[in-house]
Amino acid sequence: MNQDQMKKAAAEAAIAYVEPGMIVGVGTGSTANHFIDLLADLKDRIDGTVASSEASAQRLRGHGIQVMDLNTAGQLPLYVDGADESNHQLHLIKGGGGALTREKIVAAASDRFVCIADESKLVDMLGAFPLPVEVIPMARALVARELIRLGGQPVLRDGFTTDNGNVILDVDNLQISDPVAMEDHINGIPGVVTVGIFARRPADVLILGGPGGVKTLP
Ligand code: A5P
Repeated sequence: MNQDQMKKAAAEAAIAYVEPGMIVGVGTGSTANHFIDLLADLKDRIDGTVASSEASAQRLRGHGIQVMDLNTAGQLPLYVDGADESNHQLHLIKGGGGALTREKIVAAASDRFVCIADESKLVDMLGAFPLPVEVIPMARALVARELIRLGGQPVLRDGFTTDNGNVILDVDNLQISDPVAMEDHINGIPGVVTVGIFARRPADVLILGGPGGVKTLP
C-alpha cells in the first residue's frame, strides 16, 4: 500500500462517522479529497457540508454536494480533515495546504473532529513538519522576528496567498513540547491570524491508514 492508498483507507473509515441528516464539516488536502469523493455517494442522505477552503468547496460542488455558509449551518456534529502531524494526545500541526484558519474555525464549530491521515503523520513530538503561521501581510517581518526569538526559522511561502488574502510563514526548527503554550504564545503575536497548532481544540479521533489497515486513536 502506498501513502495515498493509506490516506484513502483512513478516509473510507471516516465515512462510518457520517449519519443521515448531518451537516458535515469538510477539511482540505489530499486526504480530505478522498473523503469528499467518498461522501459523494451519501450526498442525498446528508443535509449539506461546510468547507474549510475554496478548493474543497469547489470539489464538493463538483460532486453535486451542497456547500453551506458556516453562519447558516450553525454548530456542526462532525468535522473530518487531514493533518500534517499528530502527537499521541491528538494535538495536530495543520496548514500544509494553507487552509489552517478556516480549518480551525470549522473545527471549533464542530462537536466531533475526526482526523484522517496515513500513519507517517503520527509523531512523539510536534515540530519536524514546518509549522504554518497565517499572517497579515504588513506584519510579516515583525512576526518573523518574534518567531526567530522563539528559536524558529520562518520562511515565507513564496507566491502563496490564503483564501483570506494573507501570507504564510512556515517555521522550521521548533520542537513543540508544550503545544497548548506554543499555540497561545504564537497566536498572541500581533499580526498573526492563526498558528497551525491545533492543541486547544485537538482531534477527538485519529484514524491512521497503514500497510496493515486502519488504526483508530484513542
Ligand atoms: C490543509 O491546510 C492542511 O491542514 C491539511 O489538512 C494537511 O496539510 C494534510 O494534507 P494532506 O491530507 O494532503 O496530507
